Amino acid sequence: MSVTVRVPAKVNVQLAVGGRREDGFHGLANVFLAVGLYDHVTAEPADALRLAVSGSGADQVPLDERNLAARAARLLAQRYGREPRVALRIEKDIPVAGGMAGGSADAAGALLACDTLWGTGASRDELLEICAELGSDVPFSLVGEAALGRGRGELLTPLEVNGAFRWVFALADGGLSTPEVYGECDRLRAASGTGATVAERPEPDASPELLAALRAGDAKALAATVGNDLQDAALSLRPALAETLAVGRAAGASAGLVSGSGPTCAFLTESDETAEAVAEALRASGSCRDARVARGPVPGATLLP
Ligand code: C5P
Repeated sequence: MSVTVRVPAKVNVQLAVGGRREDGFHGLANVFLAVGLYDHVTAEPADALRLAVSGSGADQVPLDERNLAARAARLLAQRYGREPRVALRIEKDIPVAGGMAGGSADAAGALLACDTLWGTGASRDELLEICAELGSDVPFSLVGEAALGRGRGELLTPLEVNGAFRWVFALADGGLSTPEVYGECDRLRAASGTGATVAERPEPDASPELLAALRAGDAKALAATVGNDLQDAALSLRPALAETLAVGRAAGASAGLVSGSGPTCAFLTESDETAEAVAEALRASGSCRDARVARGPVPGATLLP
């Protein structure tokens, strides 16, 4: 018997980052959108916890204690007083360390796959609690669609979206470390005198115009309101991304921004034709490893029949 779960990537259409908290995390107003690039996680009975990763960037995925999917299996097993005797197979299509929650997707996928395989019968709330323990973006990977994440991103409110938005993702060579990008954001804020700590900065908030654009399914209005407070930090660590953003915008994207902590760049387009043209221009420019077209919102972690 084996169980396979399909899990989507995410893009942050708005990532408003507050000051650094006492616990080192940053308070967020994080507007998540799940998009149609997927990892697949398969769980099968085994004599002990085993892990195999294939697909693009698989060689950059840690296979030790740091692996979030393995941690998800262990945490669920621990809660239900059993041994994590499972073989997890992860097939990657979401860029590794790319700012699209690939590791979080694998964790949410492994959790749902093990829960199904073991018949633990955990409630949705229990699964979400385990997700939040695994990482700030993991709860969203489980629920998908569109949501506002408060706290460090784990406290989710579903958002209404009408229709679908067409995106192009410019995949970079090599990843960026999320803690390093947050650290660079703090450094830039401190250096510019705007303050980096929670005491020095206002509470981040979602843009009402952006939420209205999502509700209306209005790509033009969404393009005018997208924003990512981590973008300057990602560009500071990876200056070449400025060229990638320029290429996508010049090719007709209505908006271009760094996805999450990067280095993937996300481009919003208003038609399938424009999306294909932007992807083609990005590939031809040599300013990225590859370009992929995807739509969002899409459902979160889903059991495949
Ligand atoms: O929650 P997660 O394990 O994904 O976070 C990885 C790192 O990203 C944290 O250790 C922290 O440095 C940074 N982070 C943050 N504020 C958040 C989310 C993540 O500073 N809201």
